[in-house]
Amino acid sequence: MCTHYTGAWKLIKMQSDSIKTQRIKSRYNRLAFFYNFMEAPIEWLRFGTWRHRLTKRISGTTALEVGIGTGKNLSYYPHGIKITAIDFSPKMLTRARKAAVKLTINVNLQEMDVQDLQFPDNYFDVVFATFVFCSVPDSVKGLMELKRVCKPGGKLYLLEHMRPDNALLGFIFDVINPLVVRIVGANINRRTMNNIREAGWRITLEEKLSTDIVRWIEASP
Ligand SMILES: C[S@@+](CC[C@H](N)C(=O)[O-])C[C@H]1O[C@@H](n2cnc3c(N)ncnc32)[C@H](O)[C@@H]1O
Repeated sequence: MCTHYTGAWKLIKMQSDSIKTQRIKSRYNRLAFFYNFMEAPIEWLRFGTWRHRLTKRISGTTALEVGIGTGKNLSYYPHGIKITAIDFSPKMLTRARKAAVKLTINVNLQEMDVQDLQFPDNYFDVVFATFVFCSVPDSVKGLMELKRVCKPGGKLYLLEHMRPDNALLGFIFDVINPLVVRIVGANINRRTMNNIREAGWRITLEEKLSTDIVRWIEASP
């Protein structure tokens, strides 16, 4: 009896996860055309300077970028490393492909969901993402997948915005989150530090960049 309930519950959860994933994917497909325009002010004021870190950190022979979006990190890719970049939104990937051609950057672009990566275990030296785990429907699952494909001596680099530690601010973020998700598909109240740990990563560096809302994170498998 109990096994039947567990099986049914698992099936319901799988279906609900798949619906959530489809919904977020459609949102990013719709946003792809406006994305760069929408983000231009904050990109110019802040994000651009933070992305620079990627150039110095990405090392080894193979790296994976998750949620490449329109390809804003392409110009910060270091030379001489084989980089694969994925996104589950085909429209975002089209923009990234155009940007890569324009910048003459060689990158292996693939349509893929980070929650279900199609790469073997222990495959990449470095895995990285910027502003992605706020929108991955099951971010712990995605971070676990990243850990699986990262080599034992490898590294995870993340630039992420998350729920502030301050109780009042955190509460405000919780209240307005449903509206933000509806408009841009991103959650502003994710407890990303906890999620990284829950996925089994060991955090080696946590740097608060804009109060504690945006953080640069480094972790080892
Ligand atoms: C807020 S945008 C950030 C794009 C880019 N990384 C940047 O810094 O501008 C989030 C991106 O993650 C992608 N994404 C969200 N969930 C994903 C998933 N489960 N698998 C792959 N890509 C995902 C979205 O399609 C979108 O392109």
